[in-house]
Amino acid sequence: MNDMHEIIEEIKSRNDIVDIISSYIQVKSAGLNYKALCPFHSEKTPSFSISTQKQIYKCFGCGEGGDVINFVMKMENIDFMEALEFLAQKSGVEINKGKISDESKENINKKQKLYQINLDAARYFFKSMSDLNNNGYKYLKNRGLDDKVIKYFGLGYSRNDWNDLNNYLLKKGYNQQNLIDAGLAIQTKNKKKHINRFRNRVMFPIFDQRGKVIAFGGRVLDNSLPKYLNSSETILFNKRKNLYGLNFAKKNIKNDTLIIVEGYMDVISLFQYGVKNVVASLGTALTIEQAKLIKKYTNKVIVAYDNDEAGINATLKAIDILNGVNLNVKVLNLGKCKDPDEYIRREGLEGFNKLLEDSIPLIQFKIDISKQKYNLNNDQDILLFTKNVANIIKNIKSPIEVEYYINKISKETNISIHAINSEIYGENYKFNKNKKNFKQKEMEEIKIKQNGIEIAEKQIIHIFLNNKKYRKDILMNLDIDDFSFKESKEILNYIIKSNELDIITIDKLKKIGISEEYIQDVYNINIDSNINLNDIINTLQKNSLKRKRDCLLKRQHELQQKKQNDKNIEASEVDRELLDIAMKIIQLEKEMKNIL
Ligand code: GTP
Ligand code: MN
Repeated sequence: MNDMHEIIEEIKSRNDIVDIISSYIQVKSAGLNYKALCPFHSEKTPSFSISTQKQIYKCFGCGEGGDVINFVMKMENIDFMEALEFLAQKSGVEINKGKISDESKENINKKQKLYQINLDAARYFFKSMSDLNNNGYKYLKNRGLDDKVIKYFGLGYSRNDWNDLNNYLLKKGYNQQNLIDAGLAIQTKNKKKHINRFRNRVMFPIFDQRGKVIAFGGRVLDNSLPKYLNSSETILFNKRKNLYGLNFAKKNIKNDTLIIVEGYMDVISLFQYGVKNVVASLGTALTIEQAKLIKKYTNKVIVAYDNDEAGINATLKAIDILNGVNLNVKVLNLGKCKDPDEYIRREGLEGFNKLLEDSIPLIQFKIDISKQKYNLNNDQDILLFTKNVANIIKNIKSPIEVEYYINKISKETNISIHAINSEIYGENYKFNKNKKNFKQKEMEEIKIKQNGIEIAEKQIIHIFLNNKKYRKDILMNLDIDDFSFKESKEILNYIIKSNELDIITIDKLKKIGISEEYIQDVYNINIDSNINLNDIINTLQKNSLKRKRDCLLKRQHELQQKKQNDKNIEASEVDRELLDIAMKIIQLEKEMKNIL
């Protein structure tokens, strides 16, 4: 491969145009092709198109187009050779003055050979599978897979034979070392013979994101162990950097979302039922590399791991990793089913789609998990739970979300919003008093405040009745709704409606039905000589905002209860209202803060 032409072809074949372009801009699949907003001119609707088959791009808006090398030239503002070197480095090819070094030449040859062996092996397994009497086919049929999906995923069967595949591949011209390097053959202990790695298993070819076979997973047909056997790690296959099904899922992204499951069978089952935006991390802990790979194609991910202890622990780890690369993360609640495969078989596509819609935001999932650890009828536990949740909330970036969850937890635990805020932001607030004392103190505070507001309101009415020059000021700054006594409202209504604004005698007040007691209170109220009218108006305004907020909090609580108890409810609808309420609450609290 000294020929320049060969080098270019090699570099192009190693740098999939979609992968390269999507490392610069966000691309979306559209059938066989991909679409994006053109990086070379400004536009609002995508007219930039990438063909995976032809490995070229073309913008129908500005006319720009070419292959992967042209793209890099234009994007990095470099010349052809520089672009070639850039891509060569990315894919581990070395170019030296138009020639590649012997070492990387060997490496390229090796890799190419392994791709070819894997492909030949996949074809062999698939052929064995199409013999309808084989046990692998019976097994998959038993598990409900149809012929179409078996073919689509290239599922195969490794016969119950020690060396059929090994011999077949040797006959094709590969040498024994090639087959060992590919992870398909192993040497017997006495080193005399080579045998198939996979025997009597259903074979799942593992593809890279470009759709090339890089390894295999083989499942036993009974309950023996190990349940799954993978190809060993090879120069092609690094399971930390690969996601099963990504080659298919990247063409089927829906709502900017990928679903991530544990196993082969989940991906294939969901696909058969029509859910095609699914990848599997293959039972190992999700890695940052895998999270970054997902981020190349989407902004949102739904984690749908198995519903057992291992699965939940893996979920807790995965969601932080996914969140760490700025993916919007939700978690699927499988209820009583053990995995997505089982769920979709039981509840069908419609049921599964509903489940997707109801998937739980990352923070809520963490709170739910934490809640299970505590007994919320116990004061001590409530405190521990709240502290735990405060730690979870600490990591939220959006203030709206923070507010939303603090309100929610406050309702659930009866711990004040103020105290939870202090716990999160550490306002020297010590939580280690017992909860009863804490509540008692809070009640007392509320009582004092309540008295203060009553007094302020009666003071205002007093001033209003006795000082004509302040009436306009008061009416300009306060609404009737800002008053809480019905008598106060009646007085103001009367004065606004009638035109006799001059003197309002006690008799007149009695005539319009104001109670003796209220009139007494208003006339006897103590008005300090240095009282500040603005202060009283502010108190009433603030209280009015607080009442409005409390109304919203009550509605928020009702909705949350309803969501929990009523399974038939439109969850997204409720969530929208909840978010709306959260925003209104934040707005009211801002206004409250603006009133000194
Ligand atoms: P079924 O049990 O056939 O439905 O498959 P599953 O995909 O649901 O398997 P499971 O939930 O047990 O495991 C999830 C994934 O972890 C599998 O798809 C495999 O990728 C991987 N896995 C499970 N068991 C083994 C094992 O014994 N060895 C290896 N290497 N991987 C395994
Ligand atoms: Mn499973």
